[in-house]
Amino acid sequence: PPLLLICIIGIGFMTFSGSCAAFLKLAGSRLFSDRETIRAVSLIIFITAIISGFYAYSGGFEYVLGFALLMCLWGFFFTLPIGGADMPIIISVLNSLSGWCTVLVGFSRDNTLLIIVGTLVGASGTILSYIMTKAMNRNLLRVIFTPPENTAEDAEKSVRAIHQGTARDAAFLMENAAKVIIVPGYGMAAAGAQHELANMAKILKIKYQVDVKFAIHPVAGRMPGHMNVLLAEADVNPDDVFELKDINQEFQTADVAYVIGANDTTNPLAKTKTDSPIYQMPILEVGQAKKVLFVKRSLAPGYAGIDNPLFYADNTIMLLGDAKDVTKQIVADLE
Ligand code: TAP
Repeated sequence: PPLLLICIIGIGFMTFSGSCAAFLKLAGSRLFSDRETIRAVSLIIFITAIISGFYAYSGGFEYVLGFALLMCLWGFFFTLPIGGADMPIIISVLNSLSGWCTVLVGFSRDNTLLIIVGTLVGASGTILSYIMTKAMNRNLLRVIFTPPENTAEDAEKSVRAIHQGTARDAAFLMENAAKVIIVPGYGMAAAGAQHELANMAKILKIKYQVDVKFAIHPVAGRMPGHMNVLLAEADVNPDDVFELKDINQEFQTADVAYVIGANDTTNPLAKTKTDSPIYQMPILEVGQAKKVLFVKRSLAPGYAGIDNPLFYADNTIMLLGDAKDVTKQIVADLE
């Protein structure tokens, strides 16, 4: 039926090009920086696409083709201006749309398997979008319509001093600690440091009887469950891995927070900086630990593009270097 076909083409093309834009954004591409203009263009394309949809419904092949191209364009422009911290939500929305589109194809082809598979993908994507939206303290309309203010280009450049430490300092602090909470983020994944990290945790537990826990932020890394998968791959005991809401109050009693390649998910500006893309996102309260060890290569911001004041805090020690190398050196020292 034409209406079904129009819906399939519209959702399918929009989801495809939206996913391509998400891919480019995740790969760090900042081709378009004027988000206000992109949003205006996106709105115009959307309205034109809807009008062309009516023509496609009653017209011939060329109208359908025009509609498909416009939806394709719209998906791209719809995704481009989404703020850094809101990308996980949009990715799961696109994921869910791909499932619902499959359901429509299933109906059009009278194919029960496609309907069932599409429903599973669509429903899990919808559930994930809901979980993400809740975890990020967002609402979907706000994600789509609120223009993000800050980007990497206007990241605050700080000239404050940092306390820099060595792997030896870190090993000394952790072997003498009663409780260490490890906070992994995208940098751990990028460095592939999960095995060294698991090893470090094991040595601290067994050789030094330290209480070691892992704290996982719902959007740490670049995909849902990113950290959990990597830690599982490195054989970290799932009983030692805690979600944000279950561990956040424990930072006040931790001697050391070992933040490895995480940044936005710990940034206290999420509470105060109303014009930041991560405003109101819950954070892991690593700053409440007695000492915070930040492992990263530089003072560069994370995905959302904003400076992290924790780098300059009195109780923070920066361990500048690749996450895997630094953790390996700490392990050698602990051994
Ligand atoms: P980010 O805030 O992105 O910070 C990662 C940090 O890792 C960077 O500051 C980077 O600093 C460091 N890093 C990169 N490579 C490294 C390496 N080889 N060794 C050591 N450090 C390295 O990470 P996060 O705290 O995990 O937060 C995730 C962000 O991604 C959030 O803003 C979230 O909204 C966004 N996001 C998440 C998802 C999902 S579904 N999880 C999807 C899209 C976007 P240096 O360059 O100085 O090393």
